[in-house]
Amino acid sequence: MILPIVAYGDAVLRKVGVSIDANYKDLPQLIENMWETMYHAHGVGLAAPQVGKAINLFIADTSAFDDENYPEMKKVFINSEILKEWGDKWDYEEGCLSIPNIRENVSRHPNLLLRYQDEQFNWHEEEFDGIAARVIQHEYDHCQGKLFVDYVSELKRRLLKNKLLNISKGGARVDYKMRIPSHR
Ligand code: NI
Repeated sequence: MILPIVAYGDAVLRKVGVSIDANYKDLPQLIENMWETMYHAHGVGLAAPQVGKAINLFIADTSAFDDENYPEMKKVFINSEILKEWGDKWDYEEGCLSIPNIRENVSRHPNLLLRYQDEQFNWHEEEFDGIAARVIQHEYDHCQGKLFVDYVSELKRRLLKNKLLNISKGGARVDYKMRIPSHR
């Protein structure tokens, strides 16, 4: 089932996602719905707060980047924690399904070490780099109540203010369903 994607301005996007265990209600269904929702919106990652759940869960599939320099990565990340980030920061223009039609350069480390649980709740400690690391950092931030626009300069933020306000009022033109904070 395709779920509405929470638009910028909704308080759930600012909550720190709580840890979950295997007893979390209808988890397999939620994950399945998140995949369907993400692909329908042509996203490469989706975090649970973006479908209204303030829990530490996100999914990512980098195959759409089609970059031969990096292996494709498709995974479910539960209760993840970035243990380490390193390397010279690089700029990449990020976007977000909750903040449509805005793209901004964000500077992040190229390498990271992540501790997380998979769908079977097995623990992993795994290194990621390149595009995979970038998507993980963006989605991980969602589970920490953080958005990519938080990283832009004060000046840029002022320039984006009206666009962000418009999104929060449901004015963004998108081809997927959104949940608008003021319409609830
Ligand atoms: Ni996002």
